[in-house]
Amino acid sequence: MTKVLVATEKPFAEAAVEQIKKIFDNYGYQVFFLEKYTSQEQLINALLDIDALIVRSDKITPDIINAAKDLKIVVRAGAGYDNVNLEAATKNNVVVMNTPGQNSNAVAELAIGMMVYQARNHFNGKSGSELCCKTLGIHAYGNVGKLVSKIAKGFGMSVIAFDPFVDKASIEADGVKVVETIEELYGNCDYISLHIPANEHTTKSINYDLLSLMKDNTTLINTARKEVIDEDGMIRAMEENSGLSYVSDIAPVKCDIMIDKFGNRCFFTPKKMGAQTAEANINAGKAAANQIINFIEKEDVTFKVN
Ligand code: 3PG
Repeated sequence: MTKVLVATEKPFAEAAVEQIKKIFDNYGYQVFFLEKYTSQEQLINALLDIDALIVRSDKITPDIINAAKDLKIVVRAGAGYDNVNLEAATKNNVVVMNTPGQNSNAVAELAIGMMVYQARNHFNGKSGSELCCKTLGIHAYGNVGKLVSKIAKGFGMSVIAFDPFVDKASIEADGVKVVETIEELYGNCDYISLHIPANEHTTKSINYDLLSLMKDNTTLINTARKEVIDEDGMIRAMEENSGLSYVSDIAPVKCDIMIDKFGNRCFFTPKKMGAQTAEANINAGKAAANQIINFIEKEDVTFKVN
């Protein structure tokens, strides 16, 4: 009997758990849930005779993959798979997949919510500002970037985007102006919403040189990954530009220093909240379960990333 483990340090909503169970029950698979676990050992122990694994941002290290002798597939229920060690997975013939697009709307809504929260001074009673008629820059026009742009337009914002990997005409078809250089994006917006993945090319790529181009009274919203920000560069840019704010879905490493120095010009979620809605959990969880079944039953490797 195929055994599946759903390991979520940050659990899915109950409705998602129920629907995942139902999908596997229909195929006679056995499914186990390991939630809110606190050590790698717990995960290793739970994986002993498991064939398929569903995770969220849970770190899947080479030690975990090497220990899970029966493991054939890991599905990251979400978009970014920087938490899974692809090299170790490939070496052990473990297929890794993600579920692109399934939680994008939740992340996009959070990005806009964070913009409003920052524009209104964290709802502290002081007069803030409106998003209407401001310029939003989208850095990377994938599933989330596209949705952020659509919602921002509803607020009356002008949207510009930089993404050398997406066809210019398809971005322009959304009524979004495409800029040719990253410098043009960072130098011309009131808000910048970041949607690049974390990898060896993007780590610390949002550096002082870029951040120092940002105008007065601008906010960078990071619902991507904290690792893409050069935090020393961010601190220096914020020291030099007193109108620069930084909000991020998950606290940076230098969170305390930033809050201490810049107070309300920063806002950080304690846990990654972008995809933390029942809808996103259901979409991503169901997609992950179905991808596992299609892989085991039909060797379907759609969304394989290694
Ligand atoms: C993603 O990459 O899909 C998001 O960052 C969501 O991550 P989470 O599942 O850990 O909330």
